[in-house]
Amino acid sequence: MTKRYVVLISGRGSNMEAILAVDLPGRCAAVISNRPHAAGLAFAAGRGVPTTVVDHKQHADRAAFDAALAAEIDRYEPDLVILAGFMRVLGDDFVRRYEGRMLNIHPSLLPSFPGLKTHEAALAAGVRVHGATVHFVTPSLDAGPIVVQAAVPVLAGDTPETLAARVLEQEHVIYPQAVCWFLEGRLRLTDGRVRLDGEKAAAGVLRVPTE
Ligand code: GRF
Repeated sequence: MTKRYVVLISGRGSNMEAILAVDLPGRCAAVISNRPHAAGLAFAAGRGVPTTVVDHKQHADRAAFDAALAAEIDRYEPDLVILAGFMRVLGDDFVRRYEGRMLNIHPSLLPSFPGLKTHEAALAAGVRVHGATVHFVTPSLDAGPIVVQAAVPVLAGDTPETLAARVLEQEHVIYPQAVCWFLEGRLRLTDGRVRLDGEKAAAGVLRVPTE
């Protein structure tokens, strides 16, 4: 049976676009946004993907929002839930419901720089290498088991914007790759550890850009 995935977005949706652009062994069942005006919704609709909004502002608290979001996701019975620039913190119950079948991308080399404003933080810290991480989502924020990382250099004269652009380019490579592994049935979370069949390294695969 064809595997199905659902993508959760909050804004621009360039990672979602990168995933939709790849010929994956699965079908995008829906794109769901917590913001009614997320730019990515129009792109997904243009590709014939069903889109829905679960607006966090329409719910009294996080538990109510999480419940509404889970109900919407479950309508599509996805094998995989993909957080792609989804800017809401999800509660523990929600995360456990999808444990082992929910991925996130974070714009830093975790465990460095969890949270927001990662490019500013990397520049302030003076690191010479920065990047992005795809990880399984677990209840601790930005701390789930790492699937793949891409590293980029931090160059003299970088601003948060130039650095973000360099990282984003790599996000668009590693996220479709991780999704593909999962849909192929090669990537899974077993006893809290990442298993990846058929790759030289079972976890923490590092993709080094060529320049
Ligand atoms: C990306 O940098 C992603 O890593 C972070 O938020 C940004 C979303 O960008 N979580 P987009 O919406 O995918 O363009």
